[in-house]
Amino acid sequence: MTDIPRGVAPSILSADFARLGEQVELVLDAGARTIHFDVMDGRFVPPITVGPVVASAIAPQVHDAGAILDVHLMVERPERHVEAFASAGADRILVQVESTPNVAYAVKAIRDAGLSPGIVLNPGTPASAVEELIDDVDVVLCMTVNPGWGGQPFLPGSVARIRRLRALVGDRAEIEVDGGVDVETAGPCAEAGATILVAGSAVFGAEDPVRAFHQISAAAGYG
Ligand code: DX5
Ligand code: ZN
Repeated sequence: MTDIPRGVAPSILSADFARLGEQVELVLDAGARTIHFDVMDGRFVPPITVGPVVASAIAPQVHDAGAILDVHLMVERPERHVEAFASAGADRILVQVESTPNVAYAVKAIRDAGLSPGIVLNPGTPASAVEELIDDVDVVLCMTVNPGWGGQPFLPGSVARIRRLRALVGDRAEIEVDGGVDVETAGPCAEAGATILVAGSAVFGAEDPVRAFHQISAAAGYG
């Protein structure tokens, strides 16, 4: 497993895109070591967000801070986009197991590009889907909302699901959680075995994003 920073990963989906650089700087200065970057194609999920051009705009400042760019592909056939995000400066690429008939190929393409691969499971996907892939990935991301939008409530039953995934994965991969993470839900997620917590609206939607970042980190026990 590659060296992966644990902690709260602010999702720029809820940032102010008119001043994206400033917003990223804010959370990097606060101590964020993972910046979560949500890519949606209008097909795998209804919205369309951003792609490699925007990733390449923020990658240098992320790397200068010693942080990593965590690219979450909510797109059909993600294997087609690995090269483009690798060139844009992605460090980790996470693919949805539901998004391609050939997840193993996508994971291999990410590793072959020199990046860290992760797989993502939607709330309705059986946890056992990790079994065949676990030895090839660094991260398993457990969606705790249905993907597509920031600001949705944390789905009930998610903490038990994280615990189940941790039991399946053991210490072979990090467990990342995405959706509805805030000061209330962060603690139970971390306690169940999550080591990376994505937080979008709870950070960038807060009056003071730096304070919110620290509060969520503290609630998770990440310090
Ligand atoms: C949703 C995205 C998330 C989103 C989370 O499909 O994958 O990363 O930004 O937003 P919050 O933290 O507001 O639930
Ligand atoms: Zn995400």
